[in-house]
Amino acid sequence: MPADFEKQSYWHDRFASETAFEWLAPSATFISFLEPYLSVSGDQRVLNLGSGTSDLHVHLREKGSADVTNIDYEPLALGRGREIEKRLCGDVRTKYAVADVTRLRADLPAPSAFDLVLDKSTVDAVSCGGEAAFLAMARGVRQCLAPGGLWISLSYSAARFDLEELPFDVRVIGKVPTPKAKVTDPDVYYWCYLLRPR
Ligand SMILES: C[S@@+](CC[C@H](N)C(=O)[O-])C[C@H]1O[C@@H](n2cnc3c(N)ncnc32)[C@H](O)[C@@H]1O
Repeated sequence: MPADFEKQSYWHDRFASETAFEWLAPSATFISFLEPYLSVSGDQRVLNLGSGTSDLHVHLREKGSADVTNIDYEPLALGRGREIEKRLCGDVRTKYAVADVTRLRADLPAPSAFDLVLDKSTVDAVSCGGEAAFLAMARGVRQCLAPGGLWISLSYSAARFDLEELPFDVRVIGKVPTPKAKVTDPDVYYWCYLLRPR
């Protein structure tokens, strides 16, 4: 990814005109990986990091999740998220908040605890800002997880969470093959990670 992906100004300019876009994979694909971790009762507190112009929150509603909070540091993204939800669901029931995922403790109202934290390629954007930003995000997620809580992340990187200081045990729970220009091209995947606090 180009270095600008960690900058809010990049996303502000982009969301001024972009109304809908899915990074790495459609939300339905991501949902298929995390479905085993969704509660049947729908009462899990779900935090969607860097919601952008994705329809992930709509898919979570369709799966019965009744307590979804979408955060993004770019306010335009939250407006786009509301528009998508209203258009596809007829009303707005998920929550929206401006927050920086590298400053979760400071930006989320205290006390905030979530059973499931999701990110679809937001960790990739944050990682463009370097290891300190990545670790700040990881530590912030760890702090806002309720006991037994999980972080599920979709990333383009096969080595995204290979860092000793990470306060999580990491397991791959899915991979998405990327399109090939030629049949002889090598297999390349996006990776879905399950992160459990250590
Ligand atoms: C690669 S896009 C992914 C968007 C969406 N999750 C999807 O799957 O299409 C990254 C998103 O994270 C947001 N973002 C990047 N850095 C952030 C940060 N430090 N705090 C909060 N949001 C951030 C961007 O505004 C953008 O919406």
